[in-house]
Amino acid sequence: MKILFKQPAQIITVNSSGKNYKRGSELSDVNSISDHSILVENGIIKDLIPNSSVAKTSVDKTVDLKDLLVLPGLVECHTHAAYAGSRANEFLMRLNGATYEEIAKSGGGIISTVKAVRNSSFEELVRILKPRVDNFISQGITTLEIKSGYGLSFYDEIKLLQVINYFRTNSPIEIIPTFLGAHTYPPEYKNDHKQYLDLIIKELLPYIIKNKLADSIDAFCEKTAFSADEVDQIFSKAKKLGYKLRLHTEQFNNVGGLDVALKHKALSVDHLEVINVDDISKLAKSETVSVLLPGVSFFLDYDYAPARKLIEQNAIVALATDFNPGSSHISNFHFIMQLAALKMKMSAEEIISAVTINSSAALGLSENIGSIEIGKQADFAVFDAKEISEIIYNIGINLNKYTIKKGQIIFQRAETK
Ligand code: NIG
Ligand code: FE
Repeated sequence: MKILFKQPAQIITVNSSGKNYKRGSELSDVNSISDHSILVENGIIKDLIPNSSVAKTSVDKTVDLKDLLVLPGLVECHTHAAYAGSRANEFLMRLNGATYEEIAKSGGGIISTVKAVRNSSFEELVRILKPRVDNFISQGITTLEIKSGYGLSFYDEIKLLQVINYFRTNSPIEIIPTFLGAHTYPPEYKNDHKQYLDLIIKELLPYIIKNKLADSIDAFCEKTAFSADEVDQIFSKAKKLGYKLRLHTEQFNNVGGLDVALKHKALSVDHLEVINVDDISKLAKSETVSVLLPGVSFFLDYDYAPARKLIEQNAIVALATDFNPGSSHISNFHFIMQLAALKMKMSAEEIISAVTINSSAALGLSENIGSIEIGKQADFAVFDAKEISEIIYNIGINLNKYTIKKGQIIFQRAETK
C-alpha cells in the first residue's frame, strides 16, 4: 500500500544523520524541507519527493496536507497515566502551604493513589485510562510510555501492567509499559524494606520480563523513596534479566541516583530539578538521555531543571509531561513544550528535537521512531500551523490536525474554520 502525503507547507524532519539522537547544539538543527511530499509504503517512509515529481508518482492513496506543518509523531516518554482517584484535596493542601514531601510523609501522595488503584478492577482502570490515551493521541503523540508504580504489591503491579498492555494491544499507537515497582515503599513494608526489595528483585522482575509485560523498569531515587544503594541492587538484577533502565532522580534531593544510573548505563535520567551543577558534565558526556519535566516544576511551583546548562554542556535533552495525579496533573504535551520555552529558555527547535528524536532515544526506539527519515516508521503529527513557533506561541491550544501512525490517519480534528 503506497500513500502520498502531499504538498505540506513544511516537513520538519529532525534528521539525525544516523545517530538517532541530538546532543547539545544539534538540538537546534531540525531541518525544514518545503516543496516536498512524503511517500509511505506499508507504514514506512519510502521517499521525500519534490512536489514537481508528484504527478508522475503512482500511489494507492493521497492525503492532501496543503498549508500544514508535518512533524515526526510526538513521543511522550514519561507518564504515570495509569492511576485511579483524584488528589485534588492535596492540591488544595499545597495551595495552603503544605509541601509535596510533607503530604507524602503523612501518608498521602503516591500512597493515596496506591489505595485507589488497589480498590479498582482491571476493567475500571481500562475505562479510566482510555480517554487519557485518546487525549494524548489527539495531540499528535504516536508513542506513549506509561509506568506502573501505583500497585506496589505483586497482584496490583501486575494488574496495572496488564491494563497498560491492554492498550499496547488495543490502541493504534505504540504504548511502552514500564515497571515502576520501586516508586515508594508501600505501608505494609514500611519497616521492612528488605522484604519489599526481595519482592521486586526475586519475584516481580523475573515474572514481568518472562510474561512480556514490560521490558523496561524505572525507580524513584529519593530520600522518601529508594536509596542509591537500593536502586543499585534493583538495577543490577534488572540488567542481568535484559531490562532497559530509567531513573527518577535529583527531583528534590541529591542522594546519589545519578551515579547509579550512569554506572548501569540507564537509557534516561528523569527530573534533574536539583542536579548538582558539577554533575552536569558527567551526565552530558554519557549516552544517557536527560528527560526534563517542566510540568512538575510548574505544578509544584519550584526549581526548573537546568536545560540551558545541560544543552551547553552537550547533553541529550528530552521533554515529557510526567502526567500523574500528584506532581504534574498536566496531560497537555504542547503546554509542556511551551513551559520549556518560557521557563527553561529552550528554543522552539530544541523543543521539537526534545519531544521527537530525543524522547524516542530515551525509550530506546530511535532507530525506527522520532524523525522523518527514509526507512523509519511513518509516524507524523500534522499541525495546522505555518511555523513551529506557532506551536509554542499558542499556549494551551491544540493545533494538531492529524495524527498519523504507520501511515494511517488515527486522529483527525474536526474542521473549526
Ligand atoms: O514523577 N517522583 C515520583 N513520581 C512521580 C509523582 C507521582 C505522584 O505524586 O503520584 C513524579 O513526580
Ligand atoms: Fe514521574
